[in-house]
Amino acid sequence: MPNPSLPAEAEIVERIQESESIYTLRLRMTDQAAHAAYAFVPGQFNMVYLQGIGEVPISIVSDPDDDSLLDHTIRAVGRVTRGLEQLRAGQRVGIRGPFGRGWPLDQACGHDVVLITGGLGCAPLVSVINYVVRRRERFGRLVILQGVKHTDDLIWHDRYMAWAKLPDTQVLLAADIAGQGWPYHVGLVTELIDRAQFDRDNAIAMMCGPERMMQACAEALLARDMAAGNLWLSMERNMHCGVGHCGHCQLGPHFVCKDGPVFNYTELAPLLGVRGF
Ligand SMILES: Cc1cc2nc3c(=O)[nH]c(=O)nc-3n(C[C@H](O)[C@H](O)[C@H](O)COP(=O)(O)OP(=O)(O)OC[C@H]3O[C@@H](n4cnc5c(N)ncnc54)[C@H](O)[C@@H]3O)c2cc1C
Ligand code: FES
Repeated sequence: MPNPSLPAEAEIVERIQESESIYTLRLRMTDQAAHAAYAFVPGQFNMVYLQGIGEVPISIVSDPDDDSLLDHTIRAVGRVTRGLEQLRAGQRVGIRGPFGRGWPLDQACGHDVVLITGGLGCAPLVSVINYVVRRRERFGRLVILQGVKHTDDLIWHDRYMAWAKLPDTQVLLAADIAGQGWPYHVGLVTELIDRAQFDRDNAIAMMCGPERMMQACAEALLARDMAAGNLWLSMERNMHCGVGHCGHCQLGPHFVCKDGPVFNYTELAPLLGVRGF
């Protein structure tokens, strides 16, 4: 994108209601050349702008090799995300991006890939799953652990079931509170780690979800002798500029928008769970 401060206009081509409060906006930039030139890596995000209301950072969940549409899966929690929720196909938003450092996919080549997500933390890792599945021969086992608070919060059940059928792939789901007929684990996503089958000496773990969940998962993996350098976490902070100018997303010495949102555990260990950071 030529000027990272100027949103490009994008049309909502499709809107999917994923659950009561979660929806996906499938976007295409109205400038065809800009859309064709747009490239991102899994883990990066766009600033999505709703005219007259404001702008929010949202992960890009599309397959990076599918250049047709840019998908953003959003939970309606406040002013901007509730405003975006009202939009329908044919209406327009602005997007700036892609921004930030994505997942370490080059480093993950030749390793088992363990993805641990909580709630809508699954969004920025869906593009990793697509990436690995398209290049299956380059990676070892693919292990997907997803936890939700309540079974009603689980989106993309069909996708999890399809991924579970792929070779060398394991999918484990957990819910803290189980509704009727929930056939998977009842409890925390951390409790799935002992059932996950991967080579701890040759695995890269990528985590996204509430900070306390990621910290607990990282500690569980370290306790199972995984190297701290092989643990990666995606962090959330309020953002304004998205490009390292305003300081809104400060996390200790880091700017989450520019230095992250994906960080190695070794960069974050002194900051995780510390009040004020
Ligand atoms: C790099 C990055 C990627 C992100 N990717 C996504 C994504 O793919 N999908 C998505 O839905 N969100 C994502 N977020 C979070 C999203 O940007 C915020 O939810 C958004 O800023 C909320 O803006 P708002 O104006 O709607 O709500 P605000 O008015 O800012 O907040 C309203 C209320 O909601 C609470 N709140 C804010 N954010 C969250 C949250 N994430 N979960 C629960 N409560 C919250 C606030 O504490 C406040 O009480 C991402 C954030 C970052 C930093
Ligand atoms: S959002 Fe402005 S510095 Fe990160």
